[in-house]
Amino acid sequence: MDKVQSIRLKGLEISPPLFLAPMAGLTHSALRRLILEQGGIGLLSTEMLSAKRLPMENAALSPYLVRAPQEIPLSYQLLVSRVEEVAPAIAKLHALQAEAIDLNLGCPAPTVRRMGAGSRLMEEPALVQTLVAAARKQTDLPLTAKIRLGESLDEDKLRDFCRMLEGEGIELLSVHARLRGEPFVRKPRWPWVGKVKSWVNIPVVANGGIFSVEDAKNCLAQSGADGLMIGRAAAMHPWIFAELTREVYGHAVEVPVLNKLALYLRFVELLEESFLPERRLGRLKEFTHYFAKNYPFGHHLASAVQSSASLAEAKERAALFLSRYEAPPGDH
Ligand SMILES: Cc1cc2nc3c(=O)[nH]c(=O)nc-3n(C[C@H](O)[C@H](O)[C@H](O)COP(=O)(O)O)c2cc1C
Repeated sequence: MDKVQSIRLKGLEISPPLFLAPMAGLTHSALRRLILEQGGIGLLSTEMLSAKRLPMENAALSPYLVRAPQEIPLSYQLLVSRVEEVAPAIAKLHALQAEAIDLNLGCPAPTVRRMGAGSRLMEEPALVQTLVAAARKQTDLPLTAKIRLGESLDEDKLRDFCRMLEGEGIELLSVHARLRGEPFVRKPRWPWVGKVKSWVNIPVVANGGIFSVEDAKNCLAQSGADGLMIGRAAAMHPWIFAELTREVYGHAVEVPVLNKLALYLRFVELLEESFLPERRLGRLKEFTHYFAKNYPFGHHLASAVQSSASLAEAKERAALFLSRYEAPPGDH
C-alpha cells in the first residue's frame, strides 16, 4: 500500500495529517490514550497551558501535564501573553519532551481575553511578533500557531497576520474557520482556510465543524487544507481519526472492535489510571457531555452522569444507559 499522506515539520512526521484540537478539560492523558488506542491520529495535543503557571507545575502531579509514554507525538499548547513568560515556559516544555509547541492565538473565552491572551492577541500583531520571535529563539522544536479568522472578515488584516507568523518562524498554522465572536452553531467558513493557504508557504490545517467523513471531504474540497484538526468530534467519536485515515486518506488502520459501552468503560479505566480520585468525575462529566451526543436520548445519559456523586455511580448509571444500545463488553 502507498505511504499515507503526511506533513513533515523538521524531524516530526505527522502521518496521517490528522490533528487533535487542544480542548480545555478534554484533551488530557485519558482521552489522548483512548484516541491512540483507536488509531489514525497524526498529532496529539494537550489542553491550553498557562505559560505563567507552567514553570511551577509539578509534572508528576499536575493533571494538565500527566502523560503516558505512548502519547507520542504530543504537541503542547501555550497560552501566553507576556514576552518574559516565553523562555521559562519553553524550557519546561523541553524538560517535558514535547514533540511540538503550539501558540494559542484563537481562544475567545472572556477570561482568556481579559489576560490579553488567546484571540485577543490577533488584535495585537506587534506583540504577537515579539512573542513568536522570542519563542522561536528558545526552541528548535516545531513551532505552530492556532488562530481564528479574526474580529471581522478582513482579508488584508488576516493575510498580514498570517504572513507575519510565517516570517517569525511559525511552521504550521491551524485555522479554526470562524470569527472570534461566532458561536459553534454557525457553519464554519472553510473556504477562508483556503485563502490562508494561498497566502503562506507553510502547511495549513483546517479546524471547525468536522464530525464525519463527509464533513472532512467537504472541508478539504472547500479549503484545500494540508490536514484536518478535530475537536469535539474526538470526544464524541474517538474512532473518528481511524475512520478519516481510512476513508479520506485511503490508508487501512487496525481498529480494535469495541462497542460504545466498552469504549466508555475503557475511558473510565484510563481516567482511573491517569488521575487522582478527586480529579476523575469532573473529567468524566466533561467527556460524557460530548459522548452522549451519539444517542437520540443522550441527554438522559449526560444528566445521569452529571448528577452522580461518585465515579462509581456515574459508571453504573452510564453502563445502564449504554447497555440498552450496546451488547456488554466482550460480547461482540
Ligand atoms: C471544551 C472545549 C475546550 C477548548 N479548549 C481550547 C483550548 O484549550 N485551546 C484552543 O486553542 N482551543 C480550544 N477549543 C477550541 C477547539 O480547539 C476547536 O478549535 C473548536 O472546538 C472547533 O473545532 P471542532 O468543531 O472540531 O470542535 C476548545 C473547544 C472546546 C469545545
